[in-house]
Amino acid sequence: MCGIVGYTGEKQAAPILLDGLKRLEYRGYDSAGLAVRDGRALAEVVKATGKLYHLADKTDMGRSLPGTCGIGHTRWATHGDPSLVNAHPHVSGNCSGSGSGKVESDVVGVHNGIIENYGELKEKLMRHGYRFYSDTDTEVVVKLVDYYYKKYKIGPVDAITRTMVRVRGSYALALMFKDYPDEIFAARKDSPLIIGTAENAAFLASDVPAILKYTRSVYYIGNLQVARLSPGSVKCYDLNGDEITLPLTEITWDAEAAEKGGYEHFMLKEIHEQPAAVRDTLNSLVRNGKIDLTSSGITDDMLLSLSQIIITACGSAWHVGMAAQYVIEDMAGVPVRVELASEFRYRSLPMDRSTLVIVISQSGETADSLAALRLAKEKGAETLAVVNVVGSTIAREADHVLYTLAGPEIAVATTKAYSAQLIALDALAVQMAMVKGTASAEQYGHLIEEMASIPEKIARVLEDKERLQWFSSKIANAHDIFFIGRGLDYAISLEGSLKMKEISYIHSEAYAAGELKHGTISLIEKNTLVIGVLTQSRMIEKTVSNMAECKSRGAYLMGITTNGDFSVEDSVNFTVYIPRTDEHFVSSLAVVPLQLLGYYTSVNRGLDVDKPRNLAKSVTVE
Ligand code: F6R
Repeated sequence: MCGIVGYTGEKQAAPILLDGLKRLEYRGYDSAGLAVRDGRALAEVVKATGKLYHLADKTDMGRSLPGTCGIGHTRWATHGDPSLVNAHPHVSGNCSGSGSGKVESDVVGVHNGIIENYGELKEKLMRHGYRFYSDTDTEVVVKLVDYYYKKYKIGPVDAITRTMVRVRGSYALALMFKDYPDEIFAARKDSPLIIGTAENAAFLASDVPAILKYTRSVYYIGNLQVARLSPGSVKCYDLNGDEITLPLTEITWDAEAAEKGGYEHFMLKEIHEQPAAVRDTLNSLVRNGKIDLTSSGITDDMLLSLSQIIITACGSAWHVGMAAQYVIEDMAGVPVRVELASEFRYRSLPMDRSTLVIVISQSGETADSLAALRLAKEKGAETLAVVNVVGSTIAREADHVLYTLAGPEIAVATTKAYSAQLIALDALAVQMAMVKGTASAEQYGHLIEEMASIPEKIARVLEDKERLQWFSSKIANAHDIFFIGRGLDYAISLEGSLKMKEISYIHSEAYAAGELKHGTISLIEKNTLVIGVLTQSRMIEKTVSNMAECKSRGAYLMGITTNGDFSVEDSVNFTVYIPRTDEHFVSSLAVVPLQLLGYYTSVNRGLDVDKPRNLAKSVTVE
């Protein structure tokens, strides 16, 4: 996830671009850059690492970059570290530096998205004499456009559509061509892009807030469409290069609502981004119907030689480890232990080269997780980081990195990063099962297909959110909530309970269902809410009996179960159904109603959902 902006008109472009990027910073903030041109002059490119204010300082708030046509970018790294050389814009020329300064190139561009076949395209372009200065997929696209532009000499729209036919993946692209001084060309597939129009000006952006200050008249450019922007004029084309007419839409949102994509809170937006986060993460790990972990450096031989796995993390990331423990052990028969990172150093865990220590972290900066990683390395274990923020400390220090592609997460309570971590570990488990021979080729193929169906199933769970909204209004005054389950359902209960307590401030606990009767059941009173997670068919009956024990002591019951299993409905007061899937992957679905329940309960209590009290997004102290 990155943010792109563009402006062409009569005003100075750089301050407008910086202002737009500021409103897109939630989409990425590891580096930023601008390319601006003044009439026939060459485009000047300026980039800076870190937050946007570094770029603003470097350009004197845009004043040192004269010109009335330009494009800008704020980056969330997916390919290549968050460095100056990888920051956008990227250029088509064979320059030796980072592509900054006055650039001779015919094409300059910014991109949001992921080009899946960039490796093969890069090789092709290298055979044609192109040299690359960055590790990004974007530089490959810009150079591919340049290649077609020069080969066919028909013009920018033709070069762009040829490129679109050739690339696989997602993109919102904004490009400037040396021969077209005050024009910007844009293209889109599966990444957001809007085009704004005003008198003698045109704008483009990944999202509405970036341009709302200047115009409310926008075109929503469709998948596989191209736009050509010049001051006061926007033309759109289909993949054949034929001009098309798009409806002009008037934006009615206020600026704050627009930043959250129309959602009331970032948390709700991020809950809805889960299908995309899971799909993107899975797609980055599957090639030609097989799991491919080469990007992380984990080989099949390495997986085969493992004697044990230790997963360590904090909070929700630790809950992912708890779920993965059941999946890996059941699928691949490899012993897994899960340790809280803050406790890791106080254990004398035996480990050696045949131990894989997996550190899970959204931020990649959590102090306890980092300390655990360092200790594991000291003890000689092989280490793998499952991290969302590219180039973060944990990612840099681990022997291997498996990136989740959830994009920036703004709400303090994690949702989409959790789901992306879960699918990454599921993919690892499936690959281990294949390598260890505990899954046949047929089962392996089936498991991959099942994982691929998860995003669409999450979307279906989200369609039922109104029922949870209604239910949460009934429980908003609860004092205590208990989440119970067995096996994987226990792991999901842990996350459900944390989501509830951290944003609603209602005391909640997660218990392995069978453990309640060993003490905690004394806390059950009239109307205490007990939520049972009931997705593992061989354990449902037992957990339902544990819930019945609570009911006979006055508890009010909610159950989450799989569609088609209507027996649960007879035993509980409120049932939530999730789509059927292979039971190993059910956590990805069952967690969603629990996230929504926590969210709506917090809203009903009038609390600050995105920034709960006493918490920080990234915990960098031990
Ligand atoms: C809870 C939550 C935290 C984090 C934990 C680890 O919603 O977000 O429990 O999961 O602080 O953070 P990372 O994943 O950044 O290491």
